[in-house]
This record gives sequence, C-alpha cells and structure tokens, in this order.
Amino acid sequence: MKILVVGGGAREHAIVHALSKDDVEIYSVMKNLNPGIKRLASDYLLHDETDVEKVAEYARNKGIELAIIGPEAPEEAGLTDELLKHEIKVASPTRAAAEIETNKEFMRLLMEKHNIKGSVKSRAFSDIELAREYIEMLDGEVAIKPIGLTGGKGVKVAGDHFNSIEEAVEYAREIIEKGIGGKHRVLIEEKIVGEEFTLQAFCDGKSIYPMPAVQDHKRLLPDDKGPNTGGMGSYSCSDGLLPFLTADDYEAAPTILQRVIDALRMEGREYRGVIYGQFMLTAEGPKIVEINARFGDPEAMNVLTTLKTSFVEICSGMADGDLNGISIDFENKSTVCKYVVPSGYGIKPAAGEKIEVDERAIKDAGAVLFYASVNEVNGEIYTTTSRSLAIVGIANELQEAERICEEGLKHVKGNVFIRHDIGTKELIDKRIKHMEELRGI
Ligand code: GLY
Repeated sequence: MKILVVGGGAREHAIVHALSKDDVEIYSVMKNLNPGIKRLASDYLLHDETDVEKVAEYARNKGIELAIIGPEAPEEAGLTDELLKHEIKVASPTRAAAEIETNKEFMRLLMEKHNIKGSVKSRAFSDIELAREYIEMLDGEVAIKPIGLTGGKGVKVAGDHFNSIEEAVEYAREIIEKGIGGKHRVLIEEKIVGEEFTLQAFCDGKSIYPMPAVQDHKRLLPDDKGPNTGGMGSYSCSDGLLPFLTADDYEAAPTILQRVIDALRMEGREYRGVIYGQFMLTAEGPKIVEINARFGDPEAMNVLTTLKTSFVEICSGMADGDLNGISIDFENKSTVCKYVVPSGYGIKPAAGEKIEVDERAIKDAGAVLFYASVNEVNGEIYTTTSRSLAIVGIANELQEAERICEEGLKHVKGNVFIRHDIGTKELIDKRIKHMEELRGI
C-alpha cells in the first residue's frame, strides 16, 4: 500500500516509524527535510503542507491510497477534503470536523449545545469592553485564548502569565486588535486548577478507541516556568494511567470525547482520525482544556512507540469509518520523551546551527530518536526556530524510562536546551502532592 504522511516534525517521524513496521511504501510532504522521515520514505516533496492543491497533485501522481495528516494547519486548509475529492482515503478529519480544534469558540458552543459534561464557563467577544465585563465577572480568574490556531502558544492564564484584571484585559485587547489566531475575537474562559493530562483516541466517526494517558509539559523552563511552547516533553505509565490519575478519572475522559464525537456526527461533521483531549484533572474530575484534531506532539511518541496493533490497519479502519473488530493493544511499558530544542527556543531561537547526533550511541543506550524541525544539509543536521529532535526512553518502570531517555540525550551535542526535569521522581511527586492537596487528601 502507498501511504502519504503530511508533516515533517517528530510526531510525523513517529507516525512514519510506526507505519513502516508493515510492508508499505511511505511518501512524505514536509516543509523541512526531516532526516528520519527521508530515510524511511520512498519519495518526498519539500513543500508548504497547507498548499492543498499541490499536495493532492503529488498524492495523485504517486498513486497514494491512504493519507495521514500530522499537523492541524493542513487540516484547516482543507487537505482531507481535497484528497477525498480525488478518492484518496484519509485517516484525518475534514475541515468541518477539525473545527473542534481550529475554532475554540465552536468547541465550547458544541459542548454547551449538547450538554456535554466537562466543559467550563466561557464566552467569546469581539468588543473589548464586553470582554472586560466578563473578565471582571470572573474576578480575573480567567484563561484568555485566541479563537484560532497559534501553535499552542497563544493561551495565557491568570497567575501563570498575568496577575491582574488590567493585564488580562490588555492581552484580550491585543488578541482582538492584532487578530491573533486569525480572528479579531477572543475567548475568555474561567480558570481551572489541577493537573493537565492528554487522552488521545482513534476514531472511526462513530466510536472512539482510547490510548494510554500522557502528561505533556508545555512550559519552556524547569518546574513549569517560562512561556508556553509546543511541548517540551511527556511521559506515560505502563498501566495506561498517570501517577496522579485514578482509573475512575481516566474513564471519565473517553466518555467526554465519545460525546463530542456523537455531537459532531449529529451536526453533520463526522470525525475520522485521531482525536486529542487535553484535560485538566480538577478536584471535581476531568474538564476539557482544549480538543485537538490530531495526535499530540510530543504525546504521539509516547503512544506510537508502545502500540502493538498494526498502525496501518488502524489508519485504514479510521479512513474506512470502521474500527470495529480491530483489537487495539499497547505494550504495558512506561515512556519518557524529552525534546531537544535550539537555545533561545520560544524567545530568540538559535536557528541554522549545526548539531551533532550520534544515532548509533543513542540506539546503544536503548533510546529511540525522532527528528523534528531540523534540516539535513550535506548529511549534517541544522536547527530551525522550532524543536529539533526528541529522545524516548521505554521501560517497565517510569524511572528506568527516564534514565534511558537521559542516556540517549548525552549523545546530542550543540547549542541546545532540554527540560531535564520531565519524568523525574521529584517533579512527579510534586504533581501527586498537588492533586492530593486539591482533593483534600
Ligand atoms: N502537546 C500539545 C499539542 O500537541 O498540542
């Protein structure tokens, strides 16, 4: 089978890696030359992934039978719809279904209309004075969000990114005036407190098939300080839960996602592909922070490295609208993934710098390497402004996975930065304690 994977990050390298365990031919469209994808692909096109006509033309010329879109921007540009027009199967949502991610106002209104548990108080505004009134009504305990896509970097939360009603109003004003996220409109939500976790699920339009829970680390600096990033690293546990997440907490999450899928179907927006729920585990149970129309990055690396079932079979099932009868299993392993990013990432990244990656030594350390937004030039690896590569440690116990990940990281050299605290006992104990305090234990 000829399969097209769109996107050139570590998530897409992990997708290609998982697909290539089967006897398939992989094709890629990516905007940077990811060396890991290049090596596994029969052919690739270096091009803007949101140029839907060009990507579809490439897919037709190569005789592609199935496509998987990694990032959200090509989904928003209508790539799934364009490929479907040419009778190419797609294991990713249409533009209308992907609005669950690309339009945060739509997501909250859908949950409200269909009375889906796990949402929060929220309202969208184009008028800053009305936004101010709402912020005041919530005593400034708010999250301020652009409506559209910002690569995970547009959300600001009271106490984390601003400390007064005035600062909240200023950021809301900036979003409206500059049109951050593509719309002159801002979403104000009540702030929720707890521990965040990610629940990803395969979906065939009707039913969801959940994966192990993962915890990402959005903030740039150790101990969850600094600006938001695309994600600095993540971990998962062998039992599919997280050290602060009980089986009951976990069960509530897929129930919410299933209701979202049902609501989308009722609205004529059948959802096929991976759906990603970003949850906040609060003292009252999980609440939706956001929903994404794709795998998470880095979270894809935690789940795809432990997936036992053929990923080609799962993607075909999602694209065909029928996962029924496929038994989806994961190894009972813990994983820790840490990103290597250029120094200054998120502020003033050191782009275009050479990094040394000893692939053999990383493998010998038992770790798995996924390249991200780097460029390969004459066999050398150069940074861009985005994340460079990820190293994943996999083991029975979480602490052993963290140790393996760190062993692998020793073999990446250059002007780079890593959040070494991800997956450490110290940080995890802090998260457990935080949840215990919130639950009054
Ligand atoms: N890890 C956050 C995201 O993929 O959106």
